[in-house]
Amino acid sequence: MSLVDYFSSTLLFIILPTFSSRGSSLADSAMDVDSKFPPLLNDRLLRAARGEPVDKVPVWVMRQAGRYLPEFREFKTKHEFFEICQTPELACEITLQPIRRYPDLDASIIFSDILVIPQAMGMTVEMRPGVGPVLPQPLVTPQDLERLSFPVDVSTSLKYVMDAITLTRTKLEGRVPLIGFSGAPWTLMGYMIEGGGTKTMSKAKKWLYQHPAESKKLLSMLTSTVVDYLVEQAKAGAQLLQVFESSAEYLGPHLFNEFALPCIRDIRLKVKTALEELNISVPMTVFAKGAHYALEDLASTGYDVIGLDWTMDPVEARKRVGPNVTLQGNFDPCALYASPEKIRDSAEEMVKNFSKTRYIANLGHGIYPDADPAHLETFLKAVHSV
Ligand SMILES: *[C@@H]1O[C@H](CO)[C@@H](O)[C@H](O)[C@H]1NC(C)=O
Ligand SMILES: *[C@@H]1O[C@H](CO)[C@@H](O)[C@H](O)[C@H]1NC(C)=O
Ligand SMILES: *[C@@H]1O[C@H](CO)[C@@H](O)[C@H](O)[C@H]1NC(C)=O
Repeated sequence: MSLVDYFSSTLLFIILPTFSSRGSSLADSAMDVDSKFPPLLNDRLLRAARGEPVDKVPVWVMRQAGRYLPEFREFKTKHEFFEICQTPELACEITLQPIRRYPDLDASIIFSDILVIPQAMGMTVEMRPGVGPVLPQPLVTPQDLERLSFPVDVSTSLKYVMDAITLTRTKLEGRVPLIGFSGAPWTLMGYMIEGGGTKTMSKAKKWLYQHPAESKKLLSMLTSTVVDYLVEQAKAGAQLLQVFESSAEYLGPHLFNEFALPCIRDIRLKVKTALEELNISVPMTVFAKGAHYALEDLASTGYDVIGLDWTMDPVEARKRVGPNVTLQGNFDPCALYASPEKIRDSAEEMVKNFSKTRYIANLGHGIYPDADPAHLETFLKAVHSV
């Protein structure tokens, strides 16, 4: 089955059961997801993503349910990383920890990992304490693509994520919106070939130079899996979808444009189309860490929000992307090591430089495990004080 056939059959599968004729397809296939959950009480994040005015700048932080929180470290003594991801009640509990601690947070993000996709495609992924993710049988040659399960029925193999999303959105009681996410294809390909974190990404980049066609085949398998995965997350209750291209920094403009950007663009287009058929409207964010060289290209992909790492200047970034996209970021996670006075000043300056329209405050990368939880509170309050 070709990828195109696969994708259209998946779409049909979603739509067909209630699909009588084109003219009435929207009414027939529409899902009123929002009506299944408590009403949303704080919509700053969604308003900012859509470019609507906000009373205060919305703020959340990447990896906000994480090791810097003592309650998280305590929880981790009792449960393994992937046990938490795969058990909706545990993932929900961990997702809610920072929401309970910080009344200033304007969003929650479901506790999970980008590597659940390689897992769903049949690869073993272990989370080793102190090391990070390890894939003990990485892809070595293009023949290894035959080892992958594809197509993947994410609604069954990753059902635990959808269940965690539905449960968490219910338990949030409308306090803040719930963000769903996925890794982007190039970033996932990197882990699948490198077998874990890496300094240079040279094994995965070797594929791009030596096996461009097979690399594109793998990237398109990942793209169609990510599309299905994000659509299912929105159906399960995710209110914004973020795509993490965490390894963009290893590619220059040339490789990024050839291998990463087309997948990012495709994901936006196909998710949007599939969700429109279902009458679901969910903004999308792309965060391509280290892709300062691609800002204009990213702004042309149709995502509502572009996440920035801390290396980019807010005023400069706004000039480059134009007025019609929301920016998110980009406080240096290490700036949380500064004194509370300094954190307050630089956070306020950052918000003023971005301006309060079309802006979501965040860090420029996930929060580090040794950040002081009190300093994070100072940061959140400073953003809301502007
Ligand atoms: C589409 O969704 C909106 C809000 O989510 C809802 O008000 C409307 O009734 C839905 N339309 C259909 C055809 O179900
Ligand atoms: C931004 O959107 C407005 C309203 O849709 C449109 O008139 C304008 O041309 C857009 N600007 C750019 C730079 O795309
Ligand atoms: C804010 O903008 C000013 C003027 O362009 C610049 O000097 C300063 O470094 C910026 N600060 C931040 C945190 O972006």
